[in-house]
Formats: sequence, structure tokens, C-alpha cells
Amino acid sequence: MHTHSLPGPKAQEWIRRDEAVISPSYPRGYPLVMDHGSGCTIWDVDGNRFLDFMAGIAVASTGYSHPRVVQAIQEQAEKFIHISSDFYHPKWIELAEKMSQLAPFSEPAVSFMTNSGTEAVETAIKLARYTTGRTQFIGFLGGFHGRTMGSVTFTASKPKYHHGFYPLMNGVVHVPFPDLYRPVLACNPGEGYGARVVRYIEEEIFGHILPHEDTAGILVEPIQGEGGYIIPEETFFPALRQMCDRYGILLIADEVQSGMGRTGKWWSIENFGIEPDIVCSAKGIASGVPLGVMMARKSLVTWPKGSHGNTYGGNPLACVAALATIDLLEKEYLKNAATTGLYAQQQLKKLQGKYACIGDVRGIGLMIGLEFIDPAHGKQADPVMRDRIVDEAFLKGLLLLGCGESVIRIAPPLCITPAEVDEGIAILDEVLSKLTNGA
Ligand SMILES: Cc1ncc(COP(=O)(O)O)c(C=O)c1O
Repeated sequence: MHTHSLPGPKAQEWIRRDEAVISPSYPRGYPLVMDHGSGCTIWDVDGNRFLDFMAGIAVASTGYSHPRVVQAIQEQAEKFIHISSDFYHPKWIELAEKMSQLAPFSEPAVSFMTNSGTEAVETAIKLARYTTGRTQFIGFLGGFHGRTMGSVTFTASKPKYHHGFYPLMNGVVHVPFPDLYRPVLACNPGEGYGARVVRYIEEEIFGHILPHEDTAGILVEPIQGEGGYIIPEETFFPALRQMCDRYGILLIADEVQSGMGRTGKWWSIENFGIEPDIVCSAKGIASGVPLGVMMARKSLVTWPKGSHGNTYGGNPLACVAALATIDLLEKEYLKNAATTGLYAQQQLKKLQGKYACIGDVRGIGLMIGLEFIDPAHGKQADPVMRDRIVDEAFLKGLLLLGCGESVIRIAPPLCITPAEVDEGIAILDEVLSKLTNGA
């Protein structure tokens, strides 16, 4: 472990050039200028080495430039790079067949391929309106679904995502997410907090403002990502599913961050024992080649030719990268996400025992959140401490990423080893010891 002097001279020069020509809206975390990567390790343009606990926001699922993914892309690139979604090609169809096998539905799935997570969410919104003939939706406070006009309307993790962009899409009502660490609703005796949130929707939202018969869908992240790696209380999804069935509302799971094996199951919704109607996927699906997929139960997808489409959907490079990624996850990394994820959680809980500023350690598989608090003030969030930890860890060669108000997300490549977990946690320990004077 050593402290880098960052950014180095080459990185400084690239950042200077970037500032002249790249949109300033990108939320750069710290001055990392990547040169190359392998597995869970990244080297910057000055030759500094970093251990990666964030995978480019949960995207590099098989690690950086896995040889099998690279080979699949190279072979496909030599054959053809593009044909457009107006035509057919085998890898696209093979991928959709695979997605139908993996989909968390008891009936076959139909896929629509996109270029990003937000486009997968837009597709789900449009399909829900088209299929139900209804116009209105429910989303969750703290949710993140992307930044295009429809999905950003649902996004409710920070006001800056809306500031300056009104009017947004019409027809979305937000309700609290069942966050047990920071509940905002009072339960009846014996009532689970998740069921309480669903009762809030029924009594307060359907009871006062939104007719359930106009409601097309409920869009929800099974585990909130950008909002703070929040795992819903266990009574939530069964109650939500029952309510959706009662009123003919589609349950749309945004698995863009939580899916593709990150929790040790293909889809994080599988941890909660219910089936959604539509799933949005992206990020880790193709190891970083831009690809999103909206999957829906086959019986819901009746929209006619031409009603929805795109130019790059089913791009062959993205499809072969996804097929190689899925194969690697199936053979090795899905299991590793579960076992090494559990190991990481256990080690992080030990760290929590050492530092009172770690208020909560929560996670499933390799989707783990550490919530930082000011222990002198109960559970008061401590975003300043969180930011200092992220910055200091970067200087010591560990890449972290914040989320929520005062949370660090641990979302490494799914190929991470227990030894790499230990290496990263040792750096975190050193950083915490320095910032808290050992307590
Ligand atoms: C849960 C979730 N949905 C949607 C998106 C949007 O994906 P993209 O940035 O690829 O548009 C994100 C991105 O962070 C996400 O975490």
C-alpha cells in the first residue's frame, strides 16, 4: 500500500484537455484517467495501479477486458459491426433466446435491445402504456432510472436531476421506498415495513390522488442503487405483487444496476420470491459494451411493427459481448458473486465493529452498501466523511464510489477474489484509521 501523488502529470494534461471539449455535466468522482485494466485492476495514464471496488458503476462484470469477451468482439468485428435492427442476425436471436431462459418469469420472455439503461426504461414505460391502455405510474423516492425525459421523471435520488429540465413526463407519483434503516412511515403492531409502504400506496395514493384504474405500472429497483444500496424490507415485494395483481398494474423491475448476477442470482428480484412483468437490464450485461435489454412476458408484447424501434438495437458487437459475459457468469462468476460477496460482507461487518462511523453494512452478493453516520448524533448521515474516505482511498490505490446521501457502494467486478477483497478492506481500514484517529 502506498499513497499516490494524484493526478499525475499525464492525467493532469488529459483533464485539462477534457475540460475544454467535454460537457461539464458529467459527474466525475475523482481524477482517474484510465489507461488499461485487467480483472479487478486498473492502471492510469501515469502508470499508477488501482484496485477496483466499483467496476465503472457496476458494469465491468467480468473484469476489465476479459480475454473471452475480447475474443468474441474481435471475431465478430471481422465479420460485420452493424446491420441495423431492420434486419436479422443470429447472435441477436441467440441472445434473446438466452434472455428468455434467464428471465424471472414463468412464461417465455420477449426482448427489446437498447443502447443504455435509460433506453431500456423508456421502452418499458412505452410498453406499459401501450399494453394497458393506461397512462399513469408510480415510482419511488430515492430511485434512479436514467436521465432521458421519461426515465428521469421517475429518477428521484437528487433534485439536481430535475433542476432546469421541467416540464418532465406527465403522470408519475413518487412514494417512499421501504428503507428499514431510515423509515419515514409508522407501522401498525406486527406490520412489516414493506407491507406498510404498500398500504400507503393503497390508502394515500389510490385513496386520494391517483385512480388505480388509470395506473399502467409501478417502476421499482429491487435494490435501490444510486439511492444508497438499500435493500427493501422483506414484506415489500410480496405485498406489492399482490396489489399489482388486484388492480391489473404492471410491475416493472429496473435491474440495470442490481441484475446480471451481481447479487449471486441472475436478477435481484429473485431474492424476494416474486415475479415482475417487465425487467430492464443494462450495465453488467455485456461487460461494458453498451447494451440494454427490456424483457417482458411474451403475452404483454403485442405492439405492432414499427411502433417502437431503434437503429443500433441488437448491435452484433454488443450481442457477442453479452453472450460471452453470460457464459462466464453462468460458469463461474454468478457463484463467486454469492460466495465472495458473503465473505466481503462478513469482513466489512468486522470493520463496522471497529469504526463507529459505519452505521450500516448491508448487501446481497457483491452489491454492498456502507452507510456513514456521525455517531455523536445518532444515525445522522455524514456525507463529508463519506467523501473524504472515497478521496483518500483513491490516493491509496482503491477505487470506491459513493451513492445515496452518505453511502459507499461496494460493487466490484464479479470475478473478484477473497484476496482482493482483503486487499481493498485493508486500504479502507487504513483510511478510516487515519480519518477517525482509530475510532
Ligand atoms: C437502476 C438504474 N436504472 C437505470 C440507469 C440508467 O442507465 P444508463 O446510464 O445506462 O442510461 C442506471 C444507471 O446508473 C441505474 O442504476
